[in-house]
Amino acid sequence: MSEERVSYGIYSPSVLGVLVFAIIACFLLYLLSNEALIRNIIKIIVIALAIITGLIFYGSSTPLRVKRSALLVEFASPKENSLMLDVGTGRGLVAISLAKACKKCKVIGIDTWDPITLSGVSGNTMENAIKNAEIEKVSKKVKFQKADARELPFENNTFDIVACHEVLDTLIVGRDEVLSEIHRVLKRGGKFVFSTAIAKFYLVWRLSKLGFKKFQFMRLGLREGPTGFVLCRK
Ligand SMILES: C[S@@+](CC[C@H](N)C(=O)[O-])C[C@H]1O[C@@H](n2cnc3c(N)ncnc32)[C@H](O)[C@@H]1O
Repeated sequence: MSEERVSYGIYSPSVLGVLVFAIIACFLLYLLSNEALIRNIIKIIVIALAIITGLIFYGSSTPLRVKRSALLVEFASPKENSLMLDVGTGRGLVAISLAKACKKCKVIGIDTWDPITLSGVSGNTMENAIKNAEIEKVSKKVKFQKADARELPFENNTFDIVACHEVLDTLIVGRDEVLSEIHRVLKRGGKFVFSTAIAKFYLVWRLSKLGFKKFQFMRLGLREGPTGFVLCRK
């Protein structure tokens, strides 16, 4: 009998989609252009885009993403009875890692699982998240719920920890709404942990305005991906 394996999908399918589209567009421009200078510039752009795309694919492998989520959980250090929320859970990577870190804790993973986005098309579905939780034997501790992070269906001051992995940087609209919703549902003193490649000074400024405080940063090595982690408290 073949053993079922977890699969957590790739880092930001929408970013990858845009990069692949840009490479194809540049290639067409290259074919249409007669100017040597323009063709050389296009060549350099295509090489740069191809390198970025390759790095993202490398950073998207499941073992690497599992390792990263374990580091995020270690940084969040949940307690035995913590109630936690994973925002933009995808296939449940971080929700499942949080649940594995404690015996009695509870985790809710929310996502829009929008089927018409590249994320949905690539297999980020609630069914796959539930299946991964079953394979990892944490189904009793993890629940998944369809919800938009811009309007979280939870009472104020509900969660001890809110996690958000590889979501905020890829949001084109509504990042501030998501952050203020996370602040609202977090308990006073609760922790918000997330991954980001956004500059520290900007983050601290934005998050302080929303009421977050006590910032801690975890840098990742190049082998662990392009982002770092931030932990702040309400
Ligand atoms: C790159 S995936 C990351 C998934 C997961 N956190 C992980 O690390 O594997 C980004 C996820 O954010 C979800 N997402 C984007 N906007 C959202 C929103 N407004 N509310 C809830 N989820 C959202 C997408 O559906 C997608 O599953």
